[in-house]
Amino acid sequence: MPTTQDSTDATARSKTTNQAVIAINNVTKSFGPQRVLDGVTFNVHRGETLAFLGRSGTGKSVLLRIIIGLQTPDSGSAIVLGTDMAQASEEDISAVRTQMGFLFQHAALYDSLTVAENVAFPLLHHRKDLSESDRHDRVQMLLNEVGLEGHGKKMPANISGGMQKRVGLARALALDPVILLLDEPTAGLDPISSGEIDELILGLQHQHQMASIVVTHDMLSAKTIATRIALMNHGKVVIEGSYEKLQGSNESFVSQFLHRDS
Ligand SMILES: Nc1ncnc2c1ncn2[C@@H]1O[C@H](COP(=O)(O)OP(=O)(O)O)[C@@H](O)[C@H]1O
Ligand SMILES: [Mg+2]
Repeated sequence: MPTTQDSTDATARSKTTNQAVIAINNVTKSFGPQRVLDGVTFNVHRGETLAFLGRSGTGKSVLLRIIIGLQTPDSGSAIVLGTDMAQASEEDISAVRTQMGFLFQHAALYDSLTVAENVAFPLLHHRKDLSESDRHDRVQMLLNEVGLEGHGKKMPANISGGMQKRVGLARALALDPVILLLDEPTAGLDPISSGEIDELILGLQHQHQMASIVVTHDMLSAKTIATRIALMNHGKVVIEGSYEKLQGSNESFVSQFLHRDS
């Protein structure tokens, strides 16, 4: 049995039952003279949804890219399923990525593919063991799960923004991930569609018990979906905890954020 924390193998899924699935420790990242992340530390466990809030430009998307292994921190570590994403080989990073579902901020669907083909895309690449009919069944199941039953043959350009986000969510769930990373999943949606997406995320999380991070600038969304909320300012997590804990904070930055939406 592996005993060291950084050993990676096929048992990563079970090994992380008690330890954090995502462990971010004192991460810094600068672009030229601009220090975007200035010592960020937090953990996410299985079954938790951490909402990440902060003004635009505070490094939330950079942080997600570090977790995915698309950017490297200048110092500190991002340990994901026991793998240090800044140090690991491309092969190990790819192995971790197959256990992650992500929805990028400007969740581009493939315009020339149908809704169903978009959802099937990760399966075609990573689940070559599936027969065409098994893949078809899985896509239908995923579409049902996000409330898009019967919309599989449509083109992305012909569905609403809220439906496009649902397609992105179905695609993120295609490989049955342990980790779900959503970057502003309700940005640009009207309040009713945003509320529906929040409810969907809450239900999916309840069903799949992933370790999830949802970046948002909407406190109402965070309150709805999150187990914990982390608020970023000037490259640091200024407060982290339940919505109630944030409400009880005397820090002016925290109360400004809390009262902006009400
Ligand atoms: N690859 C990059 N090169 C240079 N600057 C970058 C790069 N990625 C992000 N930045 C800068 O880092 C800051 C934080 O970006 P980002 O993480 O996208 O903010 P947020 O998602 O919180 O709105 C921004 O000022 C952005 O311009
Ligand atoms: Mg962003």
